[in-house]
Parts: sequence; structure tokens; C-alpha cells
Amino acid sequence: MSAPLDASKVKITKNTNPSKPTPNDKLVFGQTFTDHMLAIEWTKEKGWDVPEIKPYGNLSLDPSACVFHYAFELFEGLKAYRTPDNKITMFRADKNMERMNKSAARICLPTFESEELIKLIGKLIEQDKRLVPEGQGYSLYIRPTMIGTTSGLGVGTPNKALLYVITSPVGPYYKTGFKAVKLEATDYATRAWPGGVGDKKLGANYAPCILPQLQAAERGYQQNLWLFGPEKNITEVGTMNVFFAFKDSATGKKELVTAPLDGTILEGVTRDSVLTLAREKLDPEEWTVSERYYTITEVAERAAKGELVEAFGSGTAAVVSPIKEIGWQGKDIQVPLLPGEQSGALTKQVASWIADIQYGREKHGNWSKVVADLNN
Ligand code: COI
Repeated sequence: MSAPLDASKVKITKNTNPSKPTPNDKLVFGQTFTDHMLAIEWTKEKGWDVPEIKPYGNLSLDPSACVFHYAFELFEGLKAYRTPDNKITMFRADKNMERMNKSAARICLPTFESEELIKLIGKLIEQDKRLVPEGQGYSLYIRPTMIGTTSGLGVGTPNKALLYVITSPVGPYYKTGFKAVKLEATDYATRAWPGGVGDKKLGANYAPCILPQLQAAERGYQQNLWLFGPEKNITEVGTMNVFFAFKDSATGKKELVTAPLDGTILEGVTRDSVLTLAREKLDPEEWTVSERYYTITEVAERAAKGELVEAFGSGTAAVVSPIKEIGWQGKDIQVPLLPGEQSGALTKQVASWIADIQYGREKHGNWSKVVADLNN
């Protein structure tokens, strides 16, 4: 019988050479790693093997392993936070596990019991809890990854896989911190398409997106805004979901808009958190919160009428990333910011709603779960 993933079987080998915490001002996103990693092997024959927490280190794989040739790879990104009473919490890990299982199923890698992986990640964090940075904007980025490890060049279903988790103390995603970015609207390259895998967190979705970003950067833009189809629907920004806010000049009513989950949009956990909080907290007399198709033409036309209020990207790494300008057809669409500030009022509000929950200043259902305690 194929064994299920079982956290109670974990084997822990401690790193005998523990590192010192990196000072917050030296943290560059995803460049520093903690002392331990979690690794679990899977075979079709036996199922999930004994989970191992061990010193962070290299993997050894056959050069013909299917991950290297046919992109049998998926990943997740979630974060753990240090609360004011020195506990370590994970934010909405259940959502990431759900999405990780969907990604795995789509590329014929094994699925697993979400709760068991959450428990194992908790045990991994417990080992390295003193390396979780303190302070607003700082956290422990958690990178669960799964790869197909079957050797041989035949294209087929992997019969061997490795699920591993590494963790990285991080500060702000962009070197510039919470600073509004300039985007170039890209319609000559497509991030995702109907019937494709744009809603799954596969490594293969990311590599082809770099070149258009470099091309946008050559023209002075930090990121690109992904458009889709002849209508030029707005889909995502860089590696993030994206939100726009409009104000109808006739009625005065405002709308917060993001693209619907039609299979071409990543099911972002931050996207879902923004929508949930906006629906709970914004006054419905003043705001409508919509998941609908909208186009760059609508944004350009409404900006010209003074109806574009603000825009921001949302993702685990940056949480929210304000937008100040969008290059489109040789012109720059200006997105208003608060005077002298780097974001609009709603963007700032959303960022603080989410941070309050992540850093344990506010409670929101079961979004935050304690996984380690620095007082013990
Ligand atoms: C995120 O916004 O969390 C991302 O997906 C970026 C990540 C690939 C570094």
C-alpha cells in the first residue's frame, strides 16, 4: 500500500553549526537561508517516505532526472511572522497547501495530506525560530517545492519525486521598499491562456516571463502588466495579481476590480485576502468589489476622465505593491498617489489591514496559526 505523508514519523538531524541571525538591513529577498530544510521522498511503489528535517544543503540528482528536462517542478510561497509576544505564526498555510496539491495533480506529481505538511513546516520553523526576523516588513519566507526525480529521458509520469521546503529570512521584496512602480503594458507576449496552466504555481510559468520584463526595463519600467487576448484584458503584473480602483464621476461610487479566476490567473492567497478584507471592511454604499474582466483600454479611458483612482499588485512576497504609471502605446497613464506618498489611500489601507493580521495585532478567523514560541 502506498504510504500517506505522516508528520509523526519525522526524523530530525540538527545542524551542528548554527548560524547567527542576519541583521535586517542586510537581508536581500531569497538570498539568506536558515540552518535546516525539510525533505520527503516519494515513490509510486511505496508512497511518502519518512520526512527528514536536516541541515540545509545541496541535492544530489541524476542529470537525466525529469525535473531538468520536462519541467516537473512546482513551488509555493508563504510566510511566517514574529508577533509582538515573540510567537511565530504562519499566514493562511492551508490555502497554499490546497494550491500546491492542485499544481501537483496537474503535472502528475504526487498529492499529499495538507495538514501533515503544515505540521512538518511548523517543526522545521521550530528548529530555526530564532532566525525569524523581527519588525514590520520582515518575515520568514517559506518555499515548499516539489520535483520529479525519475531518471531517464522518456516523457511520462514520474514514479519518483522529492518534496522539500527551505526557508529564508526576508525584508521588503523590492530593494526600493514600499515604493510605487512603473509598469509597461505587454501585449506582444502572453503569460497564460485558456486551457493552460497559468493558475498553477509551476516554475515553467516563470522563466518565459523574464525576457519581456527585461525589455520593459530597457524602456525604463520596473515590471510589466500582462494583457491577454484581442480585448487586451488586464490579467497580472510581473509575478503578482493586480487590482485597480475606479471612481464613477456620475455617481461618485468607487469600484475595486481584479480579474476573475478563469484558469489564466494565479489563485493568489494575498489576492483572496485583499478581496475578503475589502468586502468585509469597505462601506458598500461607497464601494463595489468586483472580480470581472477589464481592459487596458478601459483603464486608459477612465484615467483620461479622471476616474482612475489607484492600482496595486498583490502577492506573498511584496504583499501589496503600489503602481504609479503604466506605459501603453507610447503614452504613460498616470495612476494617482496620495500627495507626497508612495501609494494611494486604499492601497495603504489594504497593506495595513493585512499587516495587522500577519503580525498578530488583529485576529481574523484562522488566518494566523502559531507554529513556534520563542518564549520556550
Ligand atoms: C509572490 O508574489 O509571492 C511571487 O509569486 C513572487 C515569487 C515568485 C518570488
